[in-house]
Amino acid sequence: MVETLKIEIKKTAKSRVSEVNFHDIPFGKVYADHMFMADFRNGDWKNLRVVPYGHMLISPATPAIHYGQSIFEGLKAYKNDRGEALIFRPLDNWKRMNISADRMCMPYLPEDIFMEGIHTLMELDRDWIPTTEGSSFYIRPFMFSADEYIGIRPSLDFTFMIINSPVGPYYSTPVKVKIETHYTRAVEGGTGFAKAGGNYGGSLYPAKLAQDQGYHQLIWTDGREHKYIEESGTMNVMFVFEDTLVTPELGDSILRGITRDSVLTLARHWGMKVEERKISVKELVDGLESGRVKEAFGAGTAATIAHIELIGYEGKNHYLPPVETRKFSNKVLNELEAIKRGLKPDPFGWMYTF
Ligand code: COI
Repeated sequence: MVETLKIEIKKTAKSRVSEVNFHDIPFGKVYADHMFMADFRNGDWKNLRVVPYGHMLISPATPAIHYGQSIFEGLKAYKNDRGEALIFRPLDNWKRMNISADRMCMPYLPEDIFMEGIHTLMELDRDWIPTTEGSSFYIRPFMFSADEYIGIRPSLDFTFMIINSPVGPYYSTPVKVKIETHYTRAVEGGTGFAKAGGNYGGSLYPAKLAQDQGYHQLIWTDGREHKYIEESGTMNVMFVFEDTLVTPELGDSILRGITRDSVLTLARHWGMKVEERKISVKELVDGLESGRVKEAFGAGTAATIAHIELIGYEGKNHYLPPVETRKFSNKVLNELEAIKRGLKPDPFGWMYTF
């Protein structure tokens, strides 16, 4: 696959890596030396290149800016003792990117462009992959429409890019979430399952209202009745009811999380009872009040396994049991971290070494 691709490489004149304090890396603010770019023109991907990370010149009439024809992915790399880059489930991100592209009238991105783009950047920016505890290398592939045209129609031209960022934890403490029963993130028939930029833009305002009340994030409910739990916007949500792992079933309005799938795979592998089904707000709140809900956590690439400290609903905060008592979420967090860092066997073939 890979050898046939021609990628032009223009290296940075001076690496910035020595300026980074790898012991204190904020999420998403520091970017590695190089970025990958490819142009979709006249029905084909061309001009594959790596250039120094930096600002770009684009037309003010770029439709992605006006109409949000823009999608992205997020995946993570780690470094093992031999200095190799270990990438977690990249082909799943590639597949999901094409599901998002299809929904957003964007072109199919071939596997080799996605994988070789990542591979080339890993070789150039290997020194940027942190090894400090709790840190990782966040890989952000994205695609946007690139016509110079502000009529409403699917673009003809597109740009695909990958930028990379050494990151610390997305949430540094257990999270406080609020069940949202007025605003809506996604509905049946909408774009909630796609990793489309607009899904995130539209969720900022209700999330900000919750943040003003002291919460980190929302738990979205279905857009029709606000009766069923959906996801959290930055992560899927999961609960342990007694000894059963329960998470909302996938549909049009929920992102098909790769961490979500990894958690479910491990739970089933360990013989735990797993249910993917509708969870009503009432069932959750009753479970929190009666103590049947033993654990609650978010699952996402950036968030990893984010313990939920409390869940707010109709003005009342429901506290979860202390984090140290949460057997499943701690076990799955440790297991995933160990697999990702190459410290434990990878029984599901998730890791790619570059
Ligand atoms: C991710 O987990 O990769 C996400 O996309 C969540 C967020 C940073 C937007």
